Order: sequence, then structure tokens, then C-alpha cells
Amino acid sequence: MTISNHTVPNLWDNAVAETLDEAGQLLYRSNLLGADLRITNFGGGNTSAKIDTPDPLTGKPVTVLWVKGSGGDLGSMKLDGFATLYLDKLESLKSLYSRLDQEDEMVHKLNHCTFNANPRAASIDTCLHGYVPHRHVDHVHSDAVIAIAASKDAERLTYEIFGDEIGFLPWQRPGIDLGIKLGEMAKANPNYVGVVLGSHGLFTWGPDSKSCYETTLRIINKAADWLGHNSAKPAFGGSTVADLGEAARKDAAIRLLPEIRGRIARDEFKVGHFTDSPEVLEFVNSNQLTELAPLGTSCPDHFLRTKIRPLVVPADASSADLGRLIEAYRKDYAGYYDRCKHANSPAMRDPNPVIYLVPGVGMMSFARDKATARIASEFYVNAINVMRGASGVSEYRGLPEQEAFNIEYWLLEEAKLQRMPKPKSLAGRIAFITGGAGGIGAAIAAKLLSEGACVTIADIDAAALEQTSAAFAKDFGKDSIHSVVMDVTSEEAVVDAFRSAVLRFGGMDIVVNNAGIALPAPVEDTSLEIWNRQSAILGTGYFLVGREGFRLLKRQNMGGSMVFICSKNAIVASAGASAYGAIKAAELHLARCMALEGAPMGIRVNVVNPDAVLRGTKLMQGDWRKQRAESLKIRPDELEEHYRKRSLLQRSVFPEDIAEGVYFFASDMSSKSTGNYLNVDAGHVASFTR
Ligand SMILES: NC(=O)c1ccc[n+]([C@@H]2O[C@H](COP(=O)([O-])OP(=O)(O)OC[C@H]3O[C@@H](n4cnc5c(N)ncnc54)[C@H](O)[C@@H]3O)[C@@H](O)[C@H]2O)c1
Ligand SMILES: [Zn+2]
Repeated sequence: MTISNHTVPNLWDNAVAETLDEAGQLLYRSNLLGADLRITNFGGGNTSAKIDTPDPLTGKPVTVLWVKGSGGDLGSMKLDGFATLYLDKLESLKSLYSRLDQEDEMVHKLNHCTFNANPRAASIDTCLHGYVPHRHVDHVHSDAVIAIAASKDAERLTYEIFGDEIGFLPWQRPGIDLGIKLGEMAKANPNYVGVVLGSHGLFTWGPDSKSCYETTLRIINKAADWLGHNSAKPAFGGSTVADLGEAARKDAAIRLLPEIRGRIARDEFKVGHFTDSPEVLEFVNSNQLTELAPLGTSCPDHFLRTKIRPLVVPADASSADLGRLIEAYRKDYAGYYDRCKHANSPAMRDPNPVIYLVPGVGMMSFARDKATARIASEFYVNAINVMRGASGVSEYRGLPEQEAFNIEYWLLEEAKLQRMPKPKSLAGRIAFITGGAGGIGAAIAAKLLSEGACVTIADIDAAALEQTSAAFAKDFGKDSIHSVVMDVTSEEAVVDAFRSAVLRFGGMDIVVNNAGIALPAPVEDTSLEIWNRQSAILGTGYFLVGREGFRLLKRQNMGGSMVFICSKNAIVASAGASAYGAIKAAELHLARCMALEGAPMGIRVNVVNPDAVLRGTKLMQGDWRKQRAESLKIRPDELEEHYRKRSLLQRSVFPEDIAEGVYFFASDMSSKSTGNYLNVDAGHVASFTR
């Protein structure tokens, strides 16, 4: 694998561009650039245009800098993602600025340059765009260009590869000072089409959107081609660890993920991500892993997401080894913080590693939600690409520790973190719900997802599962939902489903036993088959899922919550459903026994008892409804009303009501409750707890 295979294609379509005004073309170009991760990483880079516009107050023509604002992503941004500033006011900032320690103050002054009361905050790269004397400017974090920028002899390589069309500026944190230097370099060298920023990325420019876009692509492809032709092969000095093969890689990941999570997610719950893609394996199995990994990432964007360096974990690390390795990493991180901190630095943040490299296995990452963990992993792949390129033609250089710290703990970065919305109540939690494609199961999944949890829905009905998970992906994003076809009566299927959930999310906090059927019949008409089927799904199924969940929670060693959906029938005898009721009672008792065994490990097991949930359920369709109606001597469509009137509160019970009960037991609100049951049945004196 070499970077030269990664030629970035030109996707510009004149037919589309011609229909757009200048700002529209800027957006079009931005979306094209951001859609390809080899051009720029998620959320990285920015674009700009200087556009002549009548001033909304005076009507006089002014030049406005449109530049991607703080936050957001080039690939998916809309027009409102651009900050707009009066270019002449931005110019006048230069006269207020004289010393480096005024840089942060200058960022606040950017607000005074705002055009048209645009609320989008300007980013720290604004001056770099504004001071380049060309109408259209791109800034991207391309792997191929950063590979050159992060080489020991970055400057020499830049001039060797690009001749006299690209300049070079050594590493400096972005701000007005770097903006002034970049502008002066561009002005003094009219032949330049761009500048490589040491350890950081690329600036390119042009007179219009199309030419700017094409220049950006041309320079990236030139860098990639040059690296491809000049890199030492094999990459990273070849491999030193044999590939374990896919099955063994997955086994190792499934063993390690929950154990790592149990050690790092105690203060803040975290979700994991695993990849064993070819480029990751090439790096983690390589000779140079031990030498390159400790150097850390180079581009500021990379280490903000991945932390300054990853943790290397041997595939066969025992639990005790993991403990030692992670503890040593935390100490090392605290040491870095203490060495580099300034008097006004924000307090030390979470000292746990984000990226875990496992030779022979792949890479794991952990963050406060699935998307953040996935993106951290993608960023480290960018970093691997950079290290491959740099070490193939020169010597790779990470950013000096103090510079990395100054970015990571920059007060402006801290302010950005403080502006982030408060996490939801189940953020970072991971749930597993059986019968998740059914009425009550899907309502539980929706509730937990809406509170920020990641959810695996497991069900025997593949078609319903697909439909339900597609709907959840639309409502809550693809990252948080996972589905697996599973028959709760099969030991093998249950074990596999938990493995699949662990591989997807890295661990488990909440297990909901819910999959069920109901085959009502008077006792003398209850065939052995009817008994056995209900026994298998409601009895054996709850046992298998409960046992597997219990084993996983115990291994992860951070407590957890199991919720069993039983039934009013578990506590109240009811005619015509003796098998169902008896086995529901067994579920209830199983939950209590497990509560007893789980308590020493903080594993709570509680029960929710629904009654007469007709809307949305498949359970009440067909025979059950007909049979109930017959025995009550009413029409099947009168059942809802019958059940409502039968309840003390005279209200119908819906799947969402059951989900609220599950949410209570799944969340910390019930952290002092175990072995309990909650009736959600609109009130029945027979099922009152006693
Ligand atoms: N609906 C009610 O009034 C009511 C009352 C008391 C208890 N309950 C209990 O609530 C739970 C959910 O019921 P619901 O009303 O949502 O019913 P539902 O039929 O809508 O959902 C049950 C889900 O379980 C799945 N399932 C069935 N057999 C399975 C198997 N072998 N492996 C995996 N999945 C399987 C089904 O495909 C379905 O998606 C059940 O345990 C039920 O006994 C329901
Ligand atoms: Zn940048």
C-alpha cells in the first residue's frame, strides 16, 4: 500500500457550478473538498472567498471575507457555516497587533469585523485567509502534504517537490501572527499558488473557485505521487508481527474492549470503536511501531482528537497487564500536563488514552460517544498515513510537546469545549435489548437512544429488525444503533449477538430481556408444544440472555443494570394463560436470584411488569386478541376499552410507558434499587407490591 494509489479525483461539474453565485460556488467547492478524507480530515481545514457586496446600511460596495466559521465540517456544511467579515476591518487589526501574547485578544476582536450581523463565530484561521492577497483560498489537512510537512527536512522537501510554486512556513500555532507571515509571503512571491505550513497542512489559492479547487487537488496529487515514487519500501520497515487472521483478531478485540473500558470509563462512560483495516494492520504489525507510536501525532487537529500519543497493548495482555499499562499512561499524561502547564491553564482533562494499538489485532478507540470514538479512529488513520509518508522519505517528527500542550489546553479551545451542550443522561452508555423490533422493545430502544445511549436491538424477525434499525438510524444517527438477528433460545446465537455488540460498541451497561411470545390456552388445552415453546423463549431465552449479559458485565467490572420485562401475569394468576403466567413468574424469580448474585459487583437486576399494552404490539394480534375477546364475551376491537376500564386509573398503557419504567431502572436514578419490580399497568389492586 502506498499513498500514490490515492489519487484524488477532480469532481468539479461546470453544469452545477454555472448555476451558482460566488458564495454558492465557494460552498460547492467546500463540500467537494470535505467529502474526501484524503483531502482533509473530518472537521478539519477551511475555505474562503473575498466577495464584493453592497453594504446593507450604506449600499456602498464593500469586500466581504466569507470563511468557514468555527466548528462544523467542510463536507457537510451549509452557507450558514461561513463567518462573514469586512475585509478592510480585518486588515485594520494588523495595526492593533504588535506582540505574540496579544493573539488571543485579537481573536475576540474578530467579532468587531462581522458583516451583516452574522452570528457564526470566526475561526482562528480567519486571518490566514483574509491576509492572503487572492480572492479564493483553501486550507486542507491532506495526509500526503502533512507527511511532507511533518518530515525532519520538511522545508527542503517542499521546495524539491513543488519547485517555485509553493512556499514553506515553519510550524507556528495559527493566529494573526501566522496570518501576517502567510500574507507577506504570498505578496512577495506572486508565482506561488500556495504554502506548506510545517507540521500542519496546506494553503492554496486562485482567482476563482474552480481554479482554487483544481490547484488544491493538483498539489495534493503531486505530493502523493512524489511520495509514492520516492518512499522506501516496504512501509514502516516491513512487518514484525504475523497477522493473526480475522477470527483471532476479533476474538482478541472482544476480549480486550470491555476490559479496557472497565478501566477507563469510571468517571465518564465511554463507547468504543474497533478497526482492523489494512492500513491499521500494516502499521501496528510493523517494525517501526515502537519507534513511531510514542512520537505522537503532528497536525494539531489529529492530536486534539487522538490525544498526544496512543497506547500500545500486546494482543495477549492479561487483565493485570492492562491495568499496569493504562496506569502508566495516565501517569505519563499527568507528567506531560505538569511539565507544560501555564499559570492560567485549564485543569487537567481525562488522562486515559483514546487510541489503543494492538499488534496482530488492530486499533481500538474510546470516547464519550460512538461518533467521537469513530472519528478519533479515522484521525489516527490520517496520522498513520502521515507517518508512513514521512518515514518513507525522511524522518517523521511529532509536534514538540510544549506546542502540543499549548494547542490542547489553549484557552480558546477550552472555551469551545465549555460551549458544547451538556451530555444527555445516558451518554456513553451501551444497551442491549432483545425483541428490539417488537412493540415494547422498540419503544425502549427509542427512549434509551433519545437519552444518548448506544443500542443493539436483537430480534428473530430479520425484516422487522431492518425496518426498525433503519428508522432509528434516521432519527438518532447511524453511529448509535446496531442490530443483530438472534434467536434467544439458541445459546450460540445469544453468545454471538453479545460478541457482535461488544465489537461494535466496546462493552455493555444495560441489558433488557424483553423478547417474547404469548400462546394463551386453558390448561387442559395446553399442548406440550405450547408449553415448550413459551418455556424456550420466555424461560430459557431470559436465562441465556441474562447469563451472557451478566458474564459480560462482570468481566467489564463497572456494575451495570439488567431489566427484565415480565408481566402482571408473573404475580397475578390469570385463567386461560397458565403456561405464559407460570413462565413469566419464573422470569421474575430469575431476576431476583440474579440481583442477589450481582449485588457484590454492582450489577442491578430489576423488573418491569406491563399489562395490556395493545398499541404497537405484535403479541396481542391474532389468537391472543381473539381468545381474550371470546373469554370476555366482547368483540376483539372492544379489548382496548375493556382493559382501560378495568384499570384503577382508567387509562390505556402504551409501549412508551413501559419504556419510561425501563429508563428509570437503566439510569442512575435507580442506582440504589435492585431485585425490585415496577408495575406499569394503570393500576390493579391484585398486583400491588407487598
Ligand atoms: N403487550 C403486552 O401487553 C405485554 C404485557 C405483559 C408483558 N409483555 C411482555 O413484553 C415483552 C414484549 O412484548 P411486546 O408486547 O412488545 O410483543 P411484540 O410481539 O410486539 O414483540 C416481541 C418481539 O420479540 C421477538 N421474538 C419473538 N421470539 C423471539 C426469539 N425466539 N428470539 C428473539 N426474538 C424473538 C419478536 O420477533 C418481536 O419483535 C414480552 O416479553 C411480553 O411477554 C407484554
Ligand atoms: Zn489547519
